[in-house]
Amino acid sequence: MTSSLRLSRRAADLHASPIRDILAVVSRPGMVSFAGGLPAAETFPDFSLAAVPREAAQYGASEGDWALRERVAADLAERDLPVPPTQVLILSGSQQGIDLVAKLFVDPGTPVAVETPTYLAALQVFRFFGARFVEFSAQDHTSLVGARPTVAYVNPTFQNPTGYCYTADERAALAATCERHGIVLFEDDPYRDLCYEACARRPLCANIAQGSWIYQGSFSKSLAPGLRLGYLACSPDLLPLLTHLKQAADLHSNRLSQALVLQALDDPARAVRSARLNAFYRERRDGFAALLDQHFGDLADWRLPAGGLFFWLQLRHERASLDTRALLPRALERQVAFMPGEPFFASEHGGRGCLRLNFSHAAPEAAARGLAALAAVVREAG
Ligand SMILES: Cc1ncc(COP(=O)(O)O)c(C=O)c1O
Repeated sequence: MTSSLRLSRRAADLHASPIRDILAVVSRPGMVSFAGGLPAAETFPDFSLAAVPREAAQYGASEGDWALRERVAADLAERDLPVPPTQVLILSGSQQGIDLVAKLFVDPGTPVAVETPTYLAALQVFRFFGARFVEFSAQDHTSLVGARPTVAYVNPTFQNPTGYCYTADERAALAATCERHGIVLFEDDPYRDLCYEACARRPLCANIAQGSWIYQGSFSKSLAPGLRLGYLACSPDLLPLLTHLKQAADLHSNRLSQALVLQALDDPARAVRSARLNAFYRERRDGFAALLDQHFGDLADWRLPAGGLFFWLQLRHERASLDTRALLPRALERQVAFMPGEPFFASEHGGRGCLRLNFSHAAPEAAARGLAALAAVVREAG
């Protein structure tokens, strides 16, 4: 059947997110999922809806509720990124920040710098607006000097998908390159609070004195993703522009969620909860690492992530160039889901032989079953 819909040029190239497609099947009974970046449900706080003020049900400011903006600004100052609350914008999830930044800067053909690999849903948004990708890594950003992208998008702390954490020198160097060449630095930092080993976490944006920058965070991983709440802080030139875009997108973020998040951030037991959360995930990570040694020891290489939610596996030998997307249907048949590596790369041939495995969601017994099944699928593909 031919469609008579007259779509926008942008929408003509609209694809479903690969991760959303996988998430649609992982809720089947018996399925073990290493696919999404899902926090463990048992870590969610006990929110008290009864303590939410009645006025939170009313329309609110596009920038977000003042008390929450103040709280976020105070937290950012502790991270060495001092900004006034007026420079903070509360978001409907940090995914919205990516959308707003893309709307602000990206036309068809605009050069946008992304890491190799990078967060796939950021690629999806930038692609939707027609970005032309320039690829860089923590160790090599010479491409930024040559191509002079408008924006450089970076996820420097416990990166999705690799788990990599930039060193202090790498942080300073990338910020300096952006500042020197007039590139807007867009730092996405949703995993920083899930930290299992000490490492450099000072925001790159804290190094920028003159240039334009955006730093964003999320409450999805440290509190609960169903809240759909995140925030950004940015250089003063960008705040009014991003606020206007936010206004047009959704008027303002959910005020009930804002009240619940403020409750959690103001809780005197916040530090204790955070320590407990990290202890819980450290144990899950270590259990997962032991299972990987057992099932993938001869099949793949990986690094122990110092934080965040993911292991990134590179298959060895003849499997190193395998298209891991082809493994997915066979894995799903055996009741296990994972994320193939390819969608995390801007270029067509990146990510061969790579798998991203989330370790936070599956309970230990399920993880053992799932990894045994996945290793069998990989072995058969050899
Ligand atoms: C790097 C990165 N940025 C942004 C997001 C979006 O997070 P949220 O919209 O839940 O804050 C995610 C979610 O997994 C992510 O991994």
